Order: sequence, then structure tokens, then C-alpha cells
Amino acid sequence: MSGYPLVRLGVIGGGQLGRMLISAARELGVAVMVLDPDPEAACAEVADELIVGELHDPQALSRLAAGCDLLTYEIEHTDVTALSELADKGTVIRPAPELLRIIQDKLVQKQHLQDHGVPVPVFETPRSGESLREAAGRFGYPCVCKSRRGGYDGRGVIVCRDAAALAAAGLDQEPGGGWFLERYLEGVEEPAVIVARGLDGAVAVYPPFGTAFHPERNVCDAVVVPARLSSEAGARAVEIAVAAVRSLASVGLFAVELFHTAEGELLVNEIAPRPHNSGHVTIEACATSQFEQHLRAVCGFPLGSTRLLSAGAMVNLLAEDGAGGEPAQIEGVREALAVEGVNLHLYGKRRARPGRKMGHVTALAETAELALYQARRAAACLRFR
Ligand SMILES: Nc1ncnc2c1ncn2[C@@H]1O[C@H](COP(=O)(O)OP(=O)(O)O)[C@@H](O)[C@H]1O
Ligand SMILES: [Mg+2]
Repeated sequence: MSGYPLVRLGVIGGGQLGRMLISAARELGVAVMVLDPDPEAACAEVADELIVGELHDPQALSRLAAGCDLLTYEIEHTDVTALSELADKGTVIRPAPELLRIIQDKLVQKQHLQDHGVPVPVFETPRSGESLREAAGRFGYPCVCKSRRGGYDGRGVIVCRDAAALAAAGLDQEPGGGWFLERYLEGVEEPAVIVARGLDGAVAVYPPFGTAFHPERNVCDAVVVPARLSSEAGARAVEIAVAAVRSLASVGLFAVELFHTAEGELLVNEIAPRPHNSGHVTIEACATSQFEQHLRAVCGFPLGSTRLLSAGAMVNLLAEDGAGGEPAQIEGVREALAVEGVNLHLYGKRRARPGRKMGHVTALAETAELALYQARRAAACLRFR
């Protein structure tokens, strides 16, 4: 027998992922304490307690650990050394902090996956400005330059159309440093496969989600399920994603971003060790949401069913160009809610900035195409400035 709460969970990071995790936590009898530097973070109004502090501040992390049975994170950009020290002193942290040494550095991550037989795009680490130009010439243009650390939502990814663009990016200022080069994959699709791994080693896999990207911002714009993949390609995507997650040998929920090339090849782009934008549609479309699944995994509960209950789609709601309202101004909620089959999720962010994720809409329908059509109709009604 145990009383409420069943588990006191500390979450590092207080954004929308944490906020949706908290909704699921309430249902499972899990209390959540959050660490975030922003007193108005998306989690602030829903967490049982918010500690205002930097994500990499050892003292703030110790306070979080002291109040909780175990820690997890909704963002991978935190301090591995501080977390490892806490773990050494007995704090349970899932997924294990050591994993972040692999995840945080995209180059180390790619190398790790390749070493474990997981297919990845061709990449190279030029050691000087000269060899960067030389390698780009060999790869052919356009080429992709990626920041090894700290990138998210397309920040830290530069697609260079030609040698002049590469020169303009100014990366040769950092020889052998923070960047690596990757072959550009023309016309790829980007399915994502979310895999949970429990404390007992059990694995649960969601069906592949199809993601669409904003053409300029390189940020996820919409998601459909089922993804437009042949059953063979879908099965292969699942197989690769499970192999990639098994190679990390950790407990938690992992989103594997894949590339499906025009030639039909499936390659892993990167792995997020947490709930992911591509999985928001699981809240309505699957038997267990990705947020509940993350909780089940890190709390050591049995994993839930990943069964797809309906075709569905999700569209991100981004603040428009020129946005800066404080508080953020939202228009069109009534019109959006009038669209058949639509659910609205607002993240409670007090400030709008151009391109900032302010919420999302989900739609369920008979087909993924129809669901996407409805979700886009609802999203088109909404404005954030
Ligand atoms: N090698 C590539 N070929 C084509 N497009 C790419 C490549 N690498 C990245 N992209 C595009 O940029 C997006 C962001 O890149 P990613 O490495 O996933 O960075 P982030 O950390 O910002 O998610 C990808 O989802 C994809 O749309
Ligand atoms: Mg990505």
C-alpha cells in the first residue's frame, strides 16, 4: 500500500513538454516539482512546486533532488557533471545522466550510432577552415553544417547552398571546434519513432509519425499518424529506432528522428531522450500518451499500450513574425474550436516571440489526410502576437 503521491518526481526544465508531463502525472498520482529559470515558465501554473534556478546550477539541482524521489528532464541541455555527481550521491536520475554525454554532442551521438551499426547520414569533422571547404567540395552542395552542441528547433543547423554561403557562415573561425559537416539529403521525409524502455528492459514502440517541416525555420510544423510509409519502410523504421534506443541502454522515453531518402533509405538523424513534438498526437490518438509513457518508464511502472486508436494529426501554433505581446495576444480560439474533431492545447506562455511554440492543435479523423486538413483549418484561425 502507498499513499499520495505515489512518486515525487523532479523535472529539470519547465517548458511545454514538462507541462504536458504534469497533466499525465496528476492522473498517475505522481507529484511534480520543476526547476526552471523563468518564474513564468509554461509549467509554473501547473507544477506542484517550481524552483526558480538555472538548469545547470548544482545548488538548484540539489534542492530539486532533496525534495523528490527521482529526477528526469524535459530538455537535454543540462549539466552532465552536476547530474552525475548527484547520481553518485544516490539520487535516482532517469534517463541516466551519462547518456547525455552521448546525446548532447550531435557528433558523438552520430559516431555512437554508427559504431552500433545504426545507419546515419554521411558526416565528417573538418579540422580547419581549409579542410571544411575541401570536404564540402567533396560532399557537394548544398551541404549541412551542424553545431555539435546546444542546437534545437533548427538553431545550429545551416544549409549552405554554395561555397560563398559556406564562407559567409564564418565557421572556419572555429577550426576543429564546434561544427561538423553532413551530407545534405534532398527531398527527404522525416518520420519519427518513439520508443520507451522500462526498468525491466521491456520496450514499447509507437507507430511511426510523419513530420512536416517549416521550409525556412527547419522547425517541425505538423505531424500525421499513420505516417505515409509503406508497411516495409514502417517496419524498417521501427527496427532501426529500437536498435538505436537499445544501443543507449537506458531507461526512459526516446524519440528517434529519421530521414527517409528519395532512394528509400532510412537513416537516423538524432535522438531526443524525452517526449517529443512529433508525439503530441499520442495524447488523443494512442492508448497511452507519450507523456504517461515517459512517466511509466522513469517511475519503474509497467509500460502502457502504444496502440493507435485513430488516425490523427497535429499542427504547431507558432507566434507570428513581429510578435512580442506581453501578455501574448491570442485570437481565433472560438473559430478554431468550431472545427470538427479538433483539440486545442495552449502552453500558457506569457510572452510571444516570433516563431515561439505557443501551443498545438490535434485532430482525429478517418484518415491522416483528413485529420491534417482539419488541424490546419483550426490552426489557420489562430494568431499569437
Ligand atoms: N543532412 C540533412 N539533410 C537534409 N535536411 C537536414 C539534414 N540535417 C538536418 N536537416 C533539416 O534540419 C532540421 C533540423 O536538424 P536537426 O539536426 O534535427 O536539428 P535540431 O536539433 O534543430 O532538431 C531537420 O529536421 C531537417 O529538416
Ligand atoms: Mg531534430
